[in-house]
Amino acid sequence: MNRKYRKTIIAGNLKMNLLPSEIKGYAESLRQLSGKAKHCDIVVCPPFVMLSQALKSFRDCRIAVGAQNVSDKESGAYTGEVSPNQLKDLGVKYVIIGHSERRAYYGETDELVSAKVKTSINAGLIPIICVGETLKQREQGVTDELVAMQVKLALSGLNAENVRHVIIAYEPIWAIGTGKTATSEQANEVCTNIRSVIRSLYGARISRAISILYGGSISTKTAYELFSMPDIDGGLVGGASLKPTDFAAIIDASNQ
Ligand code: PGA
Repeated sequence: MNRKYRKTIIAGNLKMNLLPSEIKGYAESLRQLSGKAKHCDIVVCPPFVMLSQALKSFRDCRIAVGAQNVSDKESGAYTGEVSPNQLKDLGVKYVIIGHSERRAYYGETDELVSAKVKTSINAGLIPIICVGETLKQREQGVTDELVAMQVKLALSGLNAENVRHVIIAYEPIWAIGTGKTATSEQANEVCTNIRSVIRSLYGARISRAISILYGGSISTKTAYELFSMPDIDGGLVGGASLKPTDFAAIIDASNQ
C-alpha cells in the first residue's frame, strides 16, 4: 500500500451466503470488532436482499455497503435486474463488477462489464472492477497480457475524471475459494502491471491515485504481507469475510 497517494480499501464479498435474518447479527459483530481500524475504508457487499438491513446496521459507522452486481441498463423492462440508480438511491456506495464467478457462470463479457462500469459511474457508484487469469492462462504465461486487456476493456470510453474513482481488484481465478493465495510477489507484480496500464492510458497522476486490491483466499495469515506490498492497496475478501473475527483481523492487518 502507499497511503500517501491512495486509499487502502478492505472489501468483504459475502457472495450468496447468509440469510436476511442473519445480516443484522453479522453487522453488529463486525461493527464492534472493526472499531480499531483507522487507515482503511471498509466495505461489505452482501446479496441484494440484505442491502437495506446492512445499510441500516452500518449507519453512523465507517463501514460502507456495496452490491455484488448491477444492471448495465438505467431503467426499464429488464425483469430481475437492479439498476445503478436504484442502488444509489438506497444508499449503496460501491458495486463489484465483473467478478470471475459472474464471468464464468453467467456469461458476463468484457463488453457487459464495460457497460456496467459506465452506468454505475453515471449513477455515482464506485465500481470495484474484478480482473484475473485462470491457472491455465498463468501457466501459458499470458497473465499480464490478459489482465491488461481486461482492464483496458473495462475502462474503455471513460475519461480521466471518471477513472479516478474506480477501484480495480486483481483476483487470480485459481486462487479464489481454493485456499491457494498468490504469493505477495506474484500478486504485487500483476497489480504493478495494472497500474502501468492505467498510466499509459491516463497518465502518472491518475495511476498513482487508483486503489488496486488483491483478492483470492486472503486469510488472517496472508493479509499482512499482501497489504505490505507497494502496489496492493487492500483486499477483496470472500470466504474470510463471512466470519466477523477473521474479517476484522484482516482489516487490522491494513493498519501498517
Ligand atoms: P475468496 O474469494 O477470498 O473466498 O477466495 C474472493 C473473491 O472471490 O472475491
